[in-house]
Amino acid sequence: MSDNNVKRVLESIISTSNNNITVTDEKGFILFTNPNHWWIYGIEPDHYLGKSVYQLETEGILSPSISAMVLKEKTPVQIMQHTKTGKIVMSTAYPIFDADGELIRVVSYTQDQTEIRKLQDQYGQLEKKIQEYQSEVEELREQEELIYRSKEMHQIVKTILRVAKTDANVMLLGESGVGKSVFARRLHNQSYRSKAPFVEVNCSTIPKSLFESEMFGYEAGSFTGAQKHGKQGLVEQADNGTLFLDEIGELPLDMQVKLLNVLQEKTFKRVGGKKEHRIDFRLVTATNQNLEEMVETGVFRLDLYYRLNVIPILIPPLRERKEDIAILINHNLEIINKKYNTNKKLHPSTYEILIQHKWSGNVRELENLIERLILTSEDSVIFPGFLPSHFHGQGSLDNKDDTLMFDQVLVDDSNLKTALEQVERWMLMKARKQCKSTYEMAKLLGISQPSVVRKMKKYQGQVHQ
Ligand SMILES: Nc1ncnc2c1ncn2[C@@H]1O[C@H](COP(=O)(O)OP(=O)(O)O)[C@@H](O)[C@H]1O
Ligand SMILES: [Mg+2]
Repeated sequence: MSDNNVKRVLESIISTSNNNITVTDEKGFILFTNPNHWWIYGIEPDHYLGKSVYQLETEGILSPSISAMVLKEKTPVQIMQHTKTGKIVMSTAYPIFDADGELIRVVSYTQDQTEIRKLQDQYGQLEKKIQEYQSEVEELREQEELIYRSKEMHQIVKTILRVAKTDANVMLLGESGVGKSVFARRLHNQSYRSKAPFVEVNCSTIPKSLFESEMFGYEAGSFTGAQKHGKQGLVEQADNGTLFLDEIGELPLDMQVKLLNVLQEKTFKRVGGKKEHRIDFRLVTATNQNLEEMVETGVFRLDLYYRLNVIPILIPPLRERKEDIAILINHNLEIINKKYNTNKKLHPSTYEILIQHKWSGNVRELENLIERLILTSEDSVIFPGFLPSHFHGQGSLDNKDDTLMFDQVLVDDSNLKTALEQVERWMLMKARKQCKSTYEMAKLLGISQPSVVRKMKKYQGQVHQ
């Protein structure tokens, strides 16, 4: 290749490179460079062509000049530069020696790192955010893992999320154990008040005579037995947060008046005090009682009822959302197995019975049952026979489906002979239902017709449809 061609090849390598490649002579004068990349330094080609890197350094364009460093050190150098245009660039430069070891050229490669730095920053921030979210999710999960599949519960969860953003009074309605307390807490956690306290008060557990001082606190020395310095009440503790009054139907009438006052005036007085305290809380109530009826009979104030019932949310009993039962069972099995370091399971037919159960204690009853089963069963698979007696309807052998009956037989009868007889009786009964004659039955069961007749006689009176 001629010298001209070598030069042409070199120039095209330099000009097509993504890096700013600059070659200087032994005095630091720029010989070749890639003009596409000098905008990083904020200057035009006519400004640097024919100049030395020392000059550009003095002008503050290269700060510092990496080629100047290599000329001095005579070894490769790598540095980060901040340019006048606010860019961050990475420069690497190498000395080129002739055959006698004299430094004749310096070649430098410069790459704009601004975008990469920006991306790194963004990536770092994203990572931090993800970590924050992750711990938040874990926190939420620990606090209130809600398990549901039914569309009713999906709807309630959505409603809770929507009303959590408001300050409206919410009344949770539903039987005991359906999850009213869980939802009240969730409402608080999803509201802007979540960092302030959530104060839960069960109105049925506070003695009537103590109600006022428990709710509103008292000033020092206001009654005998009171603490010397007075005491904060539950309402005061809920300031800026959420006050959850469970079993609101149990609120005595005089307290109903006081509560109504607090809701209207947003102030309260401690027992024995004169000072009005300002208070700001979100009120959530819950009840299992029919408050409208209580209003009619005069034990609940109508004006308070209207105030509390702004957004009523009805949580259906478990028996009305059967889709939730199996996953609640599994969830509790997992938790309780972990707690006691066991690995017990329910037999499919046990599930069937539990899904049909009326669950008057709802999720609370279900939780207790699973714990009891895991603690008391010795086998790793829990059969229906192991369930407490009230889970079995009358005549467990004559209803439900076949698998169920089979398990009952096997579990209830430890004696092989009687168990086999039960199964035999059951198979005869099935065959009798399907067939029109004892001949047909014999064919179906794979035994002789006289055997069918004999066995039918044996179980006479039992093999009815
Ligand atoms: N959907 C659900 N998922 C998981 N656990 C639930 C669910 N609903 C209720 N629970 C649990 O059932 C028990 C009773 O719930 P709770 O909110 O106290 O009922 P309530 O206040 O209506 O009597 C609690 O241990 C609660 O954690
Ligand atoms: Mg409760």
